[in-house]
Amino acid sequence: MSHEVFISYQTESQAFVEQLCKLLESYDIKCWYGKRDVISNHASEIPKAIRGCKVFLLVVDENVATHPRGDILNEVYLASNLFKKGLLDMMSVNITNIEYEDDELLYHLGRLQKKFLIDKMLPDGAINLLAELLTRLGRGECPVSYGNVPGDVRYKNDYFDINDDHECERLNTQLHILKKFDSDVYDRILSGRKGLSVLDIGCNEGNLTMDRFGKRPEVRKIIGIDINADAIESAKSNFENEKASFYLLNGEDADFGYDLAEIREKHDIDKFDIIHISMLLLHMENPSKLLKRIKPLLSKGGKLFIRDIDDTLTFVHPDPMGGFNRMIRICAREELSGYRHSGKEIYSMLIENGFRNVALEKKGLDTSQMTLEEKDALFHTYFSFIYEDTKILYLRNPENKRVLDDYNWLENNYGALKQEYDRPETLFQLGFVTYTAEK
Ligand SMILES: C[S@@+](CC[C@H](N)C(=O)[O-])C[C@H]1O[C@@H](n2cnc3c(N)ncnc32)[C@H](O)[C@@H]1O
Repeated sequence: MSHEVFISYQTESQAFVEQLCKLLESYDIKCWYGKRDVISNHASEIPKAIRGCKVFLLVVDENVATHPRGDILNEVYLASNLFKKGLLDMMSVNITNIEYEDDELLYHLGRLQKKFLIDKMLPDGAINLLAELLTRLGRGECPVSYGNVPGDVRYKNDYFDINDDHECERLNTQLHILKKFDSDVYDRILSGRKGLSVLDIGCNEGNLTMDRFGKRPEVRKIIGIDINADAIESAKSNFENEKASFYLLNGEDADFGYDLAEIREKHDIDKFDIIHISMLLLHMENPSKLLKRIKPLLSKGGKLFIRDIDDTLTFVHPDPMGGFNRMIRICAREELSGYRHSGKEIYSMLIENGFRNVALEKKGLDTSQMTLEEKDALFHTYFSFIYEDTKILYLRNPENKRVLDDYNWLENNYGALKQEYDRPETLFQLGFVTYTAEK
């Protein structure tokens, strides 16, 4: 394979370049860099290599940004001439926060639209760059994350710790933020009906359940179930009344149907008019099984309401440092956040399980029409929980290099990201999806 990316750098960044090459070459992007690839004569081999590559990548460290050496400037000069003629693509990757000070460098690089600021901690910091290179070289999309790690596959995650104040607060904030997002869907499935029985699977402490259904006159009976004993205890003590009851039950358990039959009998419920599943399917290994089991429990004309997540719909723009993108990727692979591409798969699962009138009601909650408080709250339901989860994972396993990298990076960059987020021009969309279906 011929070389595609010429890497221009000063020797102080040798170790970084070696690591970067390892990453790029593991994606079949063949790189050329002096220390490894010059055979005998710098002066003739370097220009030839630049001409032979498709992309010129300048690594800007502190030295290059402030006092670039002559050979670097020669390489940049040659590359920018080819760039002007459309014969070469140019990119720069900054591994320092220092702005370019050198006039010549500024002159040649000023025209480059896309600069990448990444930290020296590879491989994660380089994934944006990798994605861009794959696109520029015509190789299509970059994989979301490396290898087979949580985030790539569905897996069971029933993490909930009632003593985790941050998580409890997050769920509550989310509950309010989502109200505007899909309150019309609740209105539509409830309005004009009466004597309704509601089953909420994965009800947690019952806050969302009661907020959405507790005061609705159309609802006669609410049954909330959850796998977490503390959450159910809390729901019972805060909300249990004539209208609402809560049970410890595992939606993935083979006995789920039998246990629920007893509960239905006790509360004189033949079938449920609403089955509500919010932010649970992304945490299940096989949600299709649950959907299959609940279908017979839905009344004729009854509605299934599902809220879930799909990070295909999640973005922050602008993202000049690629930091938000990195947060989204951390979320995709960290093991407490569930399977982040669950949302889009639910449609086919519902169809395959024989549900009818399946409607994707909502796709993506964005900050464009939000008040400053709402925008801030949405940040906390997503970015701060990524930060908190990373802390939990780091404390659980401080030896894990990947988690340590993420944790250190977050420690150093979280504040700056929040500032970036708070800018009026920053738009954030979080990939909540809402479905309704009938049987
Ligand atoms: C992210 S919380 C969502 C809580 C609430 N539905 C909401 O939208 O705010 C997921 C909840 O599902 C529960 N859960 C996870 N696996 C479950 C299972 N197999 N059966 C029942 N509940 C489960 C967890 O204990 C947790 O309370």
